[in-house]
Amino acid sequence: MSQFKLPIWDRRKFLDFLGKGAIVAGAGPVVAGIASCDSSAKMSRPEVVASPANKEFPFKVFGPSREDNLILAEGLNYDMLARWGDKINEKETFGFNCDFTHFVPLEGKEDEALLWVNHEYTSQLFVSEYVADGSKKTREQVEKEMKSVGGSFIKIKRKSGSNQWTMVPNDPLNRRLDGLTEIPIISERPVAGETTAMGTFANCSGGFTPWGNILTCEENYDGFYGERDYSQDDPKAKSIEGILGWSQYYDKSPEHYGWVVEINPLTGEAKKLTGIGRCAHECAIVSEAADGRCVVYTGDDAADEHFYKFISDEPGNLHKGKLYVANLEQGKWLSLNYDEQPALREAFKDQTEILIRAREAAKIVGATPLDRPEDIEIDPNTQAVLVACTNNVLNGNYFGHIMKLVEKDNDPLSLEFTSEIFLAGGEELGFACPDNLAFDKTGNLWFTSDISGSAIGIDPYIPFGNNSLFVVPRTGEMAGKPIRVASAPVDAELTGPCFSPDGRSLFLSVQHPGEGSLSRDGLTSNWPDGGNSIPKPSVVVIHGPALDALVEMG
Ligand code: FEO
Ligand code: CA
Ligand code: CA
Ligand code: CA
Repeated sequence: MSQFKLPIWDRRKFLDFLGKGAIVAGAGPVVAGIASCDSSAKMSRPEVVASPANKEFPFKVFGPSREDNLILAEGLNYDMLARWGDKINEKETFGFNCDFTHFVPLEGKEDEALLWVNHEYTSQLFVSEYVADGSKKTREQVEKEMKSVGGSFIKIKRKSGSNQWTMVPNDPLNRRLDGLTEIPIISERPVAGETTAMGTFANCSGGFTPWGNILTCEENYDGFYGERDYSQDDPKAKSIEGILGWSQYYDKSPEHYGWVVEINPLTGEAKKLTGIGRCAHECAIVSEAADGRCVVYTGDDAADEHFYKFISDEPGNLHKGKLYVANLEQGKWLSLNYDEQPALREAFKDQTEILIRAREAAKIVGATPLDRPEDIEIDPNTQAVLVACTNNVLNGNYFGHIMKLVEKDNDPLSLEFTSEIFLAGGEELGFACPDNLAFDKTGNLWFTSDISGSAIGIDPYIPFGNNSLFVVPRTGEMAGKPIRVASAPVDAELTGPCFSPDGRSLFLSVQHPGEGSLSRDGLTSNWPDGGNSIPKPSVVVIHGPALDALVEMG
């Protein structure tokens, strides 16, 4: 297989990308504090691999690690906020495999907030303790797994005068949505004959609306109740069966999953939005147009799948609108609307069917296949849309890249755009497989990496060590060069980076530590509790003088 050719990273190009609106950094202090963490005394930081004489940016580069720990750059500490299994109230516990986090400020409360956390998928080994030895999984085991996915709202409180946040158990706002929650479907007509779905799962990344609701995205839904084979005459025929055996007790339609789900954080009221289409949604990022309508960008995280945008019909809700898909060669958003595409009228019976089978519709109109589009962020300074494309081994793109898309006239309603690759993974920049993106208060780009657990430490991923969190300075000597800020425990992926509004606390999920363990006697990770303990996906809060210095640079 030939190596996919990516443009060589170019520093000037990155600075151009950052644009004229780039923030001018003041001279910040070089922070050389000692990092500590709340749960382990064995943390050590690998040798510095480069020491840029950088007096502006308060993070020093550190090298890749294979250590089973959450290692942070100098000048940063972390506190444990919530682990899988923690009680959030009398009846519910914090779910498994945390991903997207979103900070919801509470009116009039400076030191209190709500945090939403996605719980992407479950584990038979750790959650239900089901052993695949030919025995039937019990209903109790299935329901344990169902309750471990979806998402959690947890009330959090900051110790006055500090950046130390803790969960407030039993707060009335604490609640779970999981694989058993009844959720209405917002659609022109019933989906698979129904107007309500049971449960949300595969909740990977997400976004939020201008009116303060959460968007949580159902990504690899086909592992749960499978996927239908629409090429067959039999309407029940499946192309994929669920792998968890949930259908033995709950026979649900695959069409009820693979949507963007909107949730009101104060009431927990949820709805599945079909207008944004059905696929392996990584995230859903909203931009408000000048007339108040909303544009939602979303990627389908699978090899050779597509990048979409939805334009709402009216301001204030995402119930109805038009869906488009990107053709990068033409620089055009192609309509996926029944009334506008004769080819789609031939293939599908109505708009609802197009939305349910968005992947097929996208291919019919000529969408560009992409290298697994994952998280998206809109640059707060330039309005450029950044899309992390994690990799596409089928195309020989092993290390992934971050793509930049600029709408014509910077208007999110435009149906024309330009795009380019501006940050390419590989040894030159020291990262591979970008996934979650975030901008900090001063406009620096942060991103996490997601080298799959089975590939970490194996050629060609040996130079990158465990998955990590990076920051890309916007200005100064290190502008455009990713700096590793955190290194994950064994088998884990760092997900869902989210800053508090003051920029001094960074919420971060540590997902699937020890996922490669074959049994409870052969654990590959004991994070976060150490010793012989089982690993627990958790959310931590990172803070410290380096982050404070970054805020003060702005
Ligand atoms: Fe769940 Fe695309 O990462
Ligand atoms: Ca992801
Ligand atoms: Ca993000
Ligand atoms: Ca990923």
